[in-house]
Amino acid sequence: MEDKVGILGTGYVGLPLAVIFGEKYEVVAFDINKSRINELKQGYDRNKQIKKGKLKNKRLLFTNSEVHLKKCNIYIITVPTPIFKNKTPDLRYISRASKLTGRLLSHNNIVVYESTVFPGATEEFCVPILEKISGLKFNKDFFVGYSPERINVGDNENTIDNVSKIVSGSNNKTLDKLYSLYKSVLSSKIYKVSSIKVAEASKITENVQRDVNIALINELSIVFNNLNIDTNEVLKAASTKWNFNKYQPGLVGGHCIGVDPYYLVHKSKSHGFKPEIISNARNLNEKMPGKICEILKSKAKQHGLEPKFCSALIMGASFKENVKDIRNSKSIDLYKKLSLILNYVEIFDPIVEAENKIEDLRISSKIQNNKKFDIIVLSVAHKIFSKINPLELITKSGFVYDIKSFYKKHPKIYRL
Ligand SMILES: NC(=O)c1ccc[n+]([C@@H]2O[C@H](COP(=O)([O-])OP(=O)(O)OC[C@H]3O[C@@H](n4cnc5c(N)ncnc54)[C@H](O)[C@@H]3O)[C@@H](O)[C@H]2O)c1
Repeated sequence: MEDKVGILGTGYVGLPLAVIFGEKYEVVAFDINKSRINELKQGYDRNKQIKKGKLKNKRLLFTNSEVHLKKCNIYIITVPTPIFKNKTPDLRYISRASKLTGRLLSHNNIVVYESTVFPGATEEFCVPILEKISGLKFNKDFFVGYSPERINVGDNENTIDNVSKIVSGSNNKTLDKLYSLYKSVLSSKIYKVSSIKVAEASKITENVQRDVNIALINELSIVFNNLNIDTNEVLKAASTKWNFNKYQPGLVGGHCIGVDPYYLVHKSKSHGFKPEIISNARNLNEKMPGKICEILKSKAKQHGLEPKFCSALIMGASFKENVKDIRNSKSIDLYKKLSLILNYVEIFDPIVEAENKIEDLRISSKIQNNKKFDIIVLSVAHKIFSKINPLELITKSGFVYDIKSFYKKHPKIYRL
């Protein structure tokens, strides 16, 4: 029997996966978001990952109706795994998707989770839901896998089709089956691991490693800033050593690196150990917008400016360069914090859509002609910002604060 693949969630992870599987298999791409499905049916991907031509495929069905999923024998779950305000895992989406899948499951089906979770979540949290709702027995009637996603939105070099993909299964047969399934549509290396927990842990480890390393460089930047040393120059010099790992200071937001470490901390705490390095690194990165505000306040004073009369323009609203995604963006935190100490703050991002409105914040996609600011903060290194000379936007005693070391050195351009 030919495999029929059901994808639950058509977001940044689910849609490219649905399109790739659709090149070979019949695919049902299901989402609870009606407007998303309507747009996809019209051939429009609001995330701008997939072009219209690829969405128009007879084997690929976009739907809000779960009955269409019933004919599938492989279910791939790519729903969000955010955190609550208290920084603990919010498993409501994955629970709802598991309940839905449980209603559809029949004998010999395989459910693969691709959402990022803590080690143990698939077997300890999701499988019991699948068993309870379906009335079927795990590893006898149905099987489970976990394959973490490495998609890097905005990166055209490391794509779903050329980056190695880790697969795991609830038994050897499922592992082999998933290996061949992914191999049949991806040209990248498929890497088998011996357990679902290892696969879950590997994904979190990748993101924890980045978070901790960026936190370290952020901390060094604060140290060097106080010592009047250019961090960027230090990093360039240090990276001439063969084993120096290259990281840049900056704001860590989004829904992966800024979130996933909390999943691991939560799981570890439930087993009696609070990971100190991971927690401290996460806290430091969370505090960076506040620390940058402090630095800006003191730089303003050095320039003879009184913060409460200053205006500022933040360049970049998204959580990282060259993407329009503003979820959990630390530039927006920076905006909120700066607004409390300065007279006027504006946030400018030509990539994020102008209609994107968060609370009372409007993100402008243009800078008004001849408008000048006391402080310009480059917070996101969008390529398009290379066409802008920030020095032309500052007042006579103003200055530029370049968090990403994006612009060339200049006496009026400070770096983090
Ligand atoms: N975006 C990335 O770069 C990236 C990279 C690697 C891993 N991940 C992980 O992949 C998962 C998905 O992330 P994303 O960025 O694709 O999220 P997303 O918000 O872009 O997409 C998730 C989609 O799932 C839908 N959804 C929610 N509940 C559903 C349900 N019960 N049934 C069907 N659809 C449902 C939402 O409507 C949304 O369209 C998360 O766990 C994330 O951490 C994301």
